[in-house]
Amino acid sequence: MNTAIRITIIDREERSHILEAPTDMGMNLMELCKAFELPVAGTCGGMALCASCHGYILSDHDLGYPGEAEEDMLDQAFLVQSNSRLCCQLAIRENMDGLIFKLAENGA
Ligand code: FES
Repeated sequence: MNTAIRITIIDREERSHILEAPTDMGMNLMELCKAFELPVAGTCGGMALCASCHGYILSDHDLGYPGEAEEDMLDQAFLVQSNSRLCCQLAIRENMDGLIFKLAENGA
């Protein structure tokens, strides 16, 4: 059984990185970016408290709505758009296959 999907991350220099993402390890998208040494600080450790993992969903995947903690943090973040998400709040699941996510400028 194939438990890996592909996710494209666009970094702040507009470079695309196609990542193989395991769906069976309980990882979130912030952790995946860090595992591939992409420039996502993840300062709060994935608690939706820092916005250093802020970015934009560019593909038409329906990943549901942000939770309350994520909404609260996005309210305080810069350069927020309607497709903004904190990638630490996006658990890697099979329905994310083909996702395109662009890192926001204000992340660290
Ligand atoms: Fe801090 Fe995502 S890592 S909000």
